[in-house]
Amino acid sequence: MHYEIREPLEDESDEMGRVHVKAWATTYGGIVSEQYIRTLSVEAHAEDWKQRIISSADFVRVATLEGRIVGLVHTCFARTVPVEFSHEFLGELNSIYVVKEYHRLGIGRALFDGGVHWLKTSGINSMFLWVIDSNPAKHFYERMHGIPIVRKQIPFAEKVVEGIGYGWRSL
Ligand SMILES: CC(C)(COP(=O)(O)OP(=O)(O)OC[C@H]1O[C@@H](n2cnc3c(N)ncnc32)[C@H](O)[C@@H]1OP(=O)(O)O)[C@@H](O)C(=O)NCCC(=O)NCCS
Repeated sequence: MHYEIREPLEDESDEMGRVHVKAWATTYGGIVSEQYIRTLSVEAHAEDWKQRIISSADFVRVATLEGRIVGLVHTCFARTVPVEFSHEFLGELNSIYVVKEYHRLGIGRALFDGGVHWLKTSGINSMFLWVIDSNPAKHFYERMHGIPIVRKQIPFAEKVVEGIGYGWRSL
């Protein structure tokens, strides 16, 4: 299966919003409350992706397969690193999503590596991200050599879930 990793066009943000919400629903159904998932707005996420594309300050890429978007990544300078680790982790993987039907084909790794490459060429050699403990994606991050650094309780609507912060001290 031949996929492509490339910069999205501004008018692809609607499709990115749909992929984002679909990936969220398939990943977090049963983990966070159904009520929270129902509040996710394709339009709001499409607008967020559009603003990221327009600003071009961060690393935003899509994975496409036969012309359709099947994956998204957003990597940026650190934003949510706890203050006690802020000197250690300067980059952040903000989001990475691959449509479920296309998991385990190497697309996630290609998106992840693209973000790492962008950070390194921006002079940043460390990275941090948050993942929910019960999300199997944490095993993907471990496969990418991430190390669990810190835990916190994250409220999602009426449910509270356990989050883990993973770090890469040397990319
Ligand atoms: C996490 C995610 C992006 C991984 O994408 P993917 O395309 O399936 O990953 P890849 O095929 O590139 O896998 C790379 C390696 O990680 C391993 N891996 C991927 N997912 C894994 C999992 N759930 N458990 C264990 N290993 C996993 C693969 O086996 C592969 O190992 P290899 O190097 O030995 O071949 C994808 O599962 C996803 O989109 N999940 C839903 C959204 C999500 O949870 N995003 C993260 C929010 S914090």
